[in-house]
Amino acid sequence: MSTEGTGRVLTTHKLLEMKERGEKIAMLTAYDYTSAKIVDAAGIDIILVGDSAANVMAGHETTLPITLDQMIYHAQSVMRAVKNPLVVVDLPFGTYQGNSKEALHSAVRIMKESEADAVKLEGGVEIMESIQRILSAGIPIMGHLGLTPQSIHKFGTYAVRAKEKAEAEKLIADAHALEDAGCFALVLEKIPALLAKRITEELKIPVIGIGAGKYCDGQVLVMHDMLGLNNKFSPRFLRRYANLYDEYLNAFKNYVADVKSCDFPNDSEQY
Ligand code: KIV
Repeated sequence: MSTEGTGRVLTTHKLLEMKERGEKIAMLTAYDYTSAKIVDAAGIDIILVGDSAANVMAGHETTLPITLDQMIYHAQSVMRAVKNPLVVVDLPFGTYQGNSKEALHSAVRIMKESEADAVKLEGGVEIMESIQRILSAGIPIMGHLGLTPQSIHKFGTYAVRAKEKAEAEKLIADAHALEDAGCFALVLEKIPALLAKRITEELKIPVIGIGAGKYCDGQVLVMHDMLGLNNKFSPRFLRRYANLYDEYLNAFKNYVADVKSCDFPNDSEQY
């Protein structure tokens, strides 16, 4: 039996050291074994098994419908693939808000059944009781503030958050509250870059941005978006590193044409 640590190369402590020495943190979502293996091979620091799986894997409009069982299934698939990165799993909507006992139960299920390294929760002081209870069980938590997609029905839009002073001040207070409670990192989604800069400078824990500008300690993107698998989604913050929609489409079209024309399989592709 190893007594050296978690077995994972990247730990929450190492992330803290990366911030201290100014080394940027690269985080990406993954939801399945095959892509998680490639993401690991690319040298990613953190994999997020995001509840964005509800959108990009299952085709829902929002992240709300995904269940705890479904998140655990995705987390298990990712965990079978990876060796190096820290794996963080989203607690889905309705499994932690307003009931800290249920929150702990949900987080424990994720940790036990997937063997992931940490969980992520959306929200600030309003979910503090759940955060404290989960942390008291020794489960590391990544916070998530700004545009929190599980609250989309409250916001009514996916527009940039905290442009007004009052919301920015609440966000700053929430960020400090999450750090003081013991969260090991914080995601800031779709907020002004200068606000994210201030929070990044004020907090000791790493701040990972998505649509939160260049001053954050790290960046996260949704894998399907950065691969260009969804050619309809192009917010300003998104940089596409591939155009897989067209690549997939051409491959599928060529396959259909080859089957129809009796070109596939040929003599060397049969037994
Ligand atoms: O679920 C997700 O993919 C996320 C990222 C957008 C940070 O929470």
